[in-house]
Amino acid sequence: MSSSPIYIETASAPTNIATIKYWGKADAKWNTPINDSVSVTLDQADLKAVTTAAASLSFEKDRLWLNGVEEEGAAENKRFRACVDGVMALATDKVDPKTGEVLVKKEDWKKMHVHISSYNTFPTAAGLASSAAGYAALVAAMMFLVGAKEEYPGQFSTIARQGSGSACRSLYGGFVAWRKGGDKPDWSDSMAQQVADENHWPEIRAVIMVVSDEKKDTSSTSGMSTSVATSELLKHRAANVVSKRMEAIEKAFLAKDFESFGQLTMADSNQFHATCLDTYPPIFYMNDVSKSIIRILHAYNAWAGELRSAYTYDAGPNAVIFTLDKYVVEVGALMLHYYPEFGENYISNPEFGTKIKEFKLDEGLLEATKKTGRTPVAGQVKMMYYTKSGPGPQLLTDQILNLDPKTGLNT
Ligand code: DP6
Repeated sequence: MSSSPIYIETASAPTNIATIKYWGKADAKWNTPINDSVSVTLDQADLKAVTTAAASLSFEKDRLWLNGVEEEGAAENKRFRACVDGVMALATDKVDPKTGEVLVKKEDWKKMHVHISSYNTFPTAAGLASSAAGYAALVAAMMFLVGAKEEYPGQFSTIARQGSGSACRSLYGGFVAWRKGGDKPDWSDSMAQQVADENHWPEIRAVIMVVSDEKKDTSSTSGMSTSVATSELLKHRAANVVSKRMEAIEKAFLAKDFESFGQLTMADSNQFHATCLDTYPPIFYMNDVSKSIIRILHAYNAWAGELRSAYTYDAGPNAVIFTLDKYVVEVGALMLHYYPEFGENYISNPEFGTKIKEFKLDEGLLEATKKTGRTPVAGQVKMMYYTKSGPGPQLLTDQILNLDPKTGLNT
């Protein structure tokens, strides 16, 4: 056993929810999209990935643990390699802050093997997108470990993109666009760009309804490849719809115009699911429970005479409902009424749970939403998350280490 030192850092990264969706790859090798997209980065209080990265000359090979279980052969995985090697290429000298002595020369990082350990703070079974947070946390932990420096702004996001497309948007907080790029031959311009940080519109809230679903979804990667090959609607969307919507939604977000923001968010979610239905053979991500939530929210907005809630669905049946601080208790209470508590910890945030249980829903609202045909049934929704927009990756080395700093093995 050699006595080579082990260098180690831990980072966390958030999930994000697209309001204009990425669906379809322009270049599978570089993992670039056929259209721009934009998302809200979610607060890391409930939902985040935490990743420790360690490097040492004493490690015999690259190793990866996910939620405590070692992934055999992970080191050869193309996505993992792109992230680890991509950040390694931007490494800088590691200098002892006290003595000024160079501990690791930038070119020497590559001679070491890495150990990576990552876990999600939310149940994987919840079916919430974890690849965005996971690859963003991998890139962030590697960045901190090797003191990587970008050669141009957004470069780290081009690396995270090669892990999972949506991961590039998790490198920033707030409202984040992914510009599709394509003017550079190596797609170095396909990167994320922050539109506004998490403090710009602090009233934005999200309620996530984790909808039970037994069957396995079509993965995003394979689903979008079938859509690109077969859907005329997807071509039309990329060529004629998305750029107008991107411009309008960025304007709406900057102006804090919830009416326009919400309308565009719902329209784009619906169009994304329409392209899935237009795929041959078709892909179904929303189920009847997902659809009942849509009907209730439209009835709610109509009853209110204004847009108070906006849903969006990714490649699964879970609803993410955007609303504003002033309506979030009403929205939560409405959802709890139609999708009653089911088991312990049904509501992620106890304080929010108390508020929505005590809230008295307007009789007229109950009357209006009942017309959708929904009757309250428990068990079709597994959990409700209450969250808001938050910042990008954080350095956590002082608080959390998933790897033992003495052995470099999973703790
Ligand atoms: C529906 O980023 O998971 O959530 O690049 O193949 O890893 P890969 O796909 P991924 O796709 C996300 C699709 C989506 C929409 C979105 O997040 O924009």
